[in-house]
Amino acid sequence: MSLSSQANAAAGGDLPVLNVAMVGHAFMGRAHSNAWRQCNRFFDLPFRVVPKVIVGRHAERAAAAAHKLGFEHATTDLDAVLADPTIHIVDVATPNDSHHDITMAALKAKKHVLCEKPLAMTLVQAKAMAALAKKQKVRVGLWHNYRRAPATRLAAQMIARGDIGAVRQVRAVYLQDWLADASVPASWRTSKKTCGSGAHGDLNAHLIDLTRALTGLEFESVCGVQQTFTKERPDGAGGKAKVDVDDAFLFLAKFKGGAIGSYEATRTAPGRKNHNCIEVSGEKGSIRWNLERMNELEVFLQDAPRDAQGFRTVMCMDSVHPYAANWWPDGHIVGYEHTFVHHVVDFVTALHDGSAFAPNFEDGVAVQAVLEASLAAAKAGNWVKVPR
Ligand SMILES: NC(=O)c1ccc[n+]([C@@H]2O[C@H](COP(=O)([O-])OP(=O)(O)OC[C@H]3O[C@@H](n4cnc5c(N)ncnc54)[C@H](O)[C@@H]3O)[C@@H](O)[C@H]2O)c1
Repeated sequence: MSLSSQANAAAGGDLPVLNVAMVGHAFMGRAHSNAWRQCNRFFDLPFRVVPKVIVGRHAERAAAAAHKLGFEHATTDLDAVLADPTIHIVDVATPNDSHHDITMAALKAKKHVLCEKPLAMTLVQAKAMAALAKKQKVRVGLWHNYRRAPATRLAAQMIARGDIGAVRQVRAVYLQDWLADASVPASWRTSKKTCGSGAHGDLNAHLIDLTRALTGLEFESVCGVQQTFTKERPDGAGGKAKVDVDDAFLFLAKFKGGAIGSYEATRTAPGRKNHNCIEVSGEKGSIRWNLERMNELEVFLQDAPRDAQGFRTVMCMDSVHPYAANWWPDGHIVGYEHTFVHHVVDFVTALHDGSAFAPNFEDGVAVQAVLEASLAAAKAGNWVKVPR
């Protein structure tokens, strides 16, 4: 689908317009809508992005969300939105069990799609989504936003140019504590039917994507262990709901080429709020990033006399750093929501110039393959090869 034919010229000789329909309007809906609203204000883009319509399940709630989040209107009729030729991008911000069906419908309608992670509930679904995106010749992406902090982007650049030498080890943890308390009610996040897996699909999915983005390594085989500490939770109606997903999921990985990695995702680590941390060790240096100090990179390079070597902290909000110059003067930091803005900026740019955008659905398939192989490995108690 040619974008020049899709895009309507905006009033007053303005940029061509890209109209966005967003499905779902809660946590990620807020993060995404901020990105759609802000992208043109801080970056020079080839399109004017218009947050057009929110699609929800309840008309009143969707209308209130559209008003608050800056969309022009709201509807409960996804089919009508997909049939509307003036809608260019469908943003899927709903729970995991709906990603496949909403995305497939959007692809059939030849819309470009940005879908939340994990891409699907199963590898079979993920592959079908990637195949249809390719067949329809539309552009697709996955909201693994942590790739696009200035510091993670810099880490990827440093590793690619050989600053730390060949990567030998990755150690990554994503620790939260909101399910440590057994009285926290059940939700779509604690039921296999709606989320597929627990901390694993929720948090390890990000670590797997970040590993691939930072190092270019491909997972070869995995072994894992999982635990559900609280097996029932209040169902919100005076009863109990079964919890059939992991509270914590740990796995080890072997990569193609001989590097190895360790991964830990948990939602039951008291005191840890959103501790998303990855450390990459190479032959001659190491790099560590922690979301809770997201503008910094801890870097060890052997570039000083031996007795003066040590980790140093690089503040990644200087105009030479990725995305930074579009925001504020040097050292004026950005936050969580900016990673989503960067995601939109790169996606919209890729729509215009045909450049690659990652993560796309092929990347989503790769992440899903690792998720699924480690689930199988934890169940069997063995190492399992990650399917290609
Ligand atoms: N990229 C990230 O860092 C990140 C962070 C949190 C969540 N997520 C992912 O984003 C997705 C949404 O998570 P959330 O935290 O926003 O959830 P949420 O529960 O806060 O919001 C879900 C929204 O989807 C709507 N919804 C549910 N089922 C629907 C359906 N079938 N059709 C239309 N709307 C539907 C709900 O009404 C609600 O507006 C999940 O896949 C999750 O894994 C990603």
